[in-house]
Amino acid sequence: MQFTVNHRLLKNNCILFLAGFFLFEFIYISFVKRYDNLSSDINFSQLTISSEKIDNNNNHLSKKIFRYLQPHYHSVSCQNLYEHDYNEFKHALALLSDLNNLTSVPDQHYNITKAQCSIYRSERFNEPYHHEDSFVNRQFPLAFTILMYENVEQFERLLHLIYRPQNFYCVHVDSDASANVLQAVKSIIQCFNNIFLASKQERVLYATFSRLQADLNCMQDLMKYPSWKYVLNVANTELPLKTNAELVKILSIYRGYNDIEGRWKTKNIERTEYVWQIFDTPTGNNQQVPQLRRTNEKKTSPPGNVEIVKGSAYGAFSRAFIEFVQTSPIAKELLDWSRDTYSPDEHYWATLNYNTHLNSPGGYKAKSDPTNWTARFVNWGEQNCYGRIIRGICVFGIFDLPNLLNRHELFANKFHLNADPIAYQCLEELILNKSKLDLPLNDAIFYRHMPFLLPS
Ligand SMILES: *[C@@H]1O[C@H](CO)[C@@H](O)[C@H](O)[C@H]1NC(C)=O
Ligand SMILES: *[C@@H]1O[C@H](CO)[C@@H](O)[C@H](O)[C@H]1NC(C)=O
Ligand SMILES: *[C@@H]1O[C@H](CO)[C@@H](O)[C@H](O)[C@H]1NC(C)=O
Ligand SMILES: *[C@@H]1O[C@H](CO)[C@@H](O)[C@H](O)[C@H]1NC(C)=O
Ligand SMILES: *[C@@H]1O[C@H](CO)[C@@H](O)[C@H](O)[C@H]1NC(C)=O
Repeated sequence: MQFTVNHRLLKNNCILFLAGFFLFEFIYISFVKRYDNLSSDINFSQLTISSEKIDNNNNHLSKKIFRYLQPHYHSVSCQNLYEHDYNEFKHALALLSDLNNLTSVPDQHYNITKAQCSIYRSERFNEPYHHEDSFVNRQFPLAFTILMYENVEQFERLLHLIYRPQNFYCVHVDSDASANVLQAVKSIIQCFNNIFLASKQERVLYATFSRLQADLNCMQDLMKYPSWKYVLNVANTELPLKTNAELVKILSIYRGYNDIEGRWKTKNIERTEYVWQIFDTPTGNNQQVPQLRRTNEKKTSPPGNVEIVKGSAYGAFSRAFIEFVQTSPIAKELLDWSRDTYSPDEHYWATLNYNTHLNSPGGYKAKSDPTNWTARFVNWGEQNCYGRIIRGICVFGIFDLPNLLNRHELFANKFHLNADPIAYQCLEELILNKSKLDLPLNDAIFYRHMPFLLPS
């Protein structure tokens, strides 16, 4: 069957649907509290037991003990959404606009005992790749840090996608996260011998040093495991754009060079030339929230003759680079110097990587600008954002899916499971499908041409 699309019509309809989508977002925000209360009232243990008795229809899901941890998958064709199918978008929007269909698993339902671990793993982590990965991938273990504050279902689903037996995972739960979240995460990760909690949990405040410190705590803990080759730092609000096999292929091409964003020409002087401090700032309802504010005090110039380079909090860092970060005096001095800057996570890695005189392992050797990197796809609004822009960053929605399909980056930032569960589900499905295959890297040439691999 073949049909042609009237592009103007499609565009107008898209605008209509976007309007509908924003209306939905509004409704969602207005009712999210009410809905949360409702969902925590559901008596899940009761449901499991009673339906186990009644439900004799050979549905194997109904036999599962952890059935109540099964995410709600919406009945959409992700394939059609990726292919810009107008009717499928219409259908997906209808699902999203129905509040009753936005069920998520309450955090406190992740209550797995040690004795239940093998059942839990066999029910929830039972893809072939969860047991054994290919020989090649086993020779190339990866390490991950995962920073999170809330939404355990999203954490479990992220883990489900990136978990491999040969890798290592350090989870940092913010120290001010709710006790339910911490308890739930602990109950999940006790079932895996290659996943652990950060030995020290920070209270992570937006744009402050604590964000960088949280990653550093995890990376320090990860050094105990000698086999991993690269560490990738990931937030709970991200999803991979590549499978583990693809990550291994790409990072093998990178042969120890770091994949770190760096923008020599973007200067954000305010952030590092003035001292920033955390002040308790009053909010409307008689509360105080800690907030980072600029003082008038000028900072001294950075140590070691380095030039501050603006980059990203996220990257793919070689093991030798992380060893350097932890042991080199200049890395330590720069870290101390950065404590009272704005968002030091966005200059620390880049500055160590791009100042060639530091000779950091895997660092940038060429002098060309602009540079390139592949660690993250973040839409800062340079491209159309069809989800919601929060703090300048696009939180992806279903209309962003076609744009996520063939990207070169390793991970995409950001997703909120509760804001658009269908966008989440569909990227999940794509990566899961690809994880079942072991296809050649179709864009290997792109990675081989990264300037950081070329001789200076
Ligand atoms: C949950 O199940 C228990 C045990 O059967 C029952 O006593 C309780 O009333 C139920 N709670 C709700 C909210 O239905
Ligand atoms: C919501 O989900 C239910 C059950 O999964 C389904 O019957 C209903 O059609 C869905 N709502 C919409 C608007 O599709
Ligand atoms: C978690 O499970 C254990 C063992 O099944 C039980 O004793 C405990 O009450 C549960 N806690 C919650 C919050 O459901
Ligand atoms: C994933 O695989 C399933 C089963 O083969 C298929 O139905 C679905 O369309 C695939 N989804 C995507 C996004 O490729
Ligand atoms: C690197 O970035 C520049 C500028 O954005 C671009 O023109 C070039 O094609 C990129 N190179 C690769 C290999 O992506």
